[in-house]
Amino acid sequence: MVLSARAYAKINLGLLIHGKRNDGYHEIETVFHHIDLYDEIRLESQDKVSIETDSDDIPSDESNLCWKAVTLLNQMHGTKHGVRVKLKKNIPAGAGLGGGSADAATVLRLLPRLWNISVSDSDLADCAARLGSDVSFFLGATSAHGRGRGDVLEPFRLPLSYAIVVCFPGIHVSTPWAYGQIMKFEEREAGKLRERLQHALTDLRSRCDVVHNDFEEPVFRQYPKLGKLKHSLLEAGAVCASLSGSGSSVYGLFAENTSAMQAALQLRSNRISTFYTPAGFQIPSETVLSVP
Ligand code: C5P
Repeated sequence: MVLSARAYAKINLGLLIHGKRNDGYHEIETVFHHIDLYDEIRLESQDKVSIETDSDDIPSDESNLCWKAVTLLNQMHGTKHGVRVKLKKNIPAGAGLGGGSADAATVLRLLPRLWNISVSDSDLADCAARLGSDVSFFLGATSAHGRGRGDVLEPFRLPLSYAIVVCFPGIHVSTPWAYGQIMKFEEREAGKLRERLQHALTDLRSRCDVVHNDFEEPVFRQYPKLGKLKHSLLEAGAVCASLSGSGSSVYGLFAENTSAMQAALQLRSNRISTFYTPAGFQIPSETVLSVP
């Protein structure tokens, strides 16, 4: 059997780091939101596990998160199934767009069908959380309020009436490094980000602080080019702009699709990888295809 599906990327609409936990992770709060950028995943039945990819930026051995997803599901189910994974990468790696996590979650979602086994939603969610803090989000939600280490999710519908332009300047930021730079934690009321965001959406221009990302200060200090990129997005007409995750992607929200497209073209001409998502974009509800 052959199955194929799209693995969509995300941005973080606000990212607050509330403190360090006893397990070494950080307690965070964010709103995950899908964008119109995806990797293409194709799974084929075979006896062993193998990964093929068209990207030089990611490994194709056991260290690939998709391979770890296969191993984990086999372990959980007491099986030794194989699979041939083909990854066509469009989401840049180390960009704060969740590419590796989206791919792994999509593999997890497809495997039960490929192997003809039944796996409960809670077992799948457990596997996802063990693979990485933001993998759970990619199991299905289109937008979600994330808490805990990013794995405790409350999905909700976010009809974002702003077009999104995401810029990836080719810098790879290490997430553990970025967390390691956060020394102080601001006293803030936790758990209100979703509510604050929904409230601010009618007048985002004057409420840009709602998409504040705590990683910006240390990441912009280390990579000044990223702070300049945020400024360029604002100059190009973005209503507000922010770093996604721990970077290095920076996104801008635009009131009009046309101004967003113009900004994307302008930034592209400066040789910056730029991805455009129209206002109101929602990922197709069923993106899994069965190829006979
Ligand atoms: O969970 P994930 O593998 O994506 O996390 C990568 C690293 O980022 C962790 O090993 C940890 O150093 C850091 N991290 C953190 N707090 C979080 C998420 C990640 O400190 N909430």
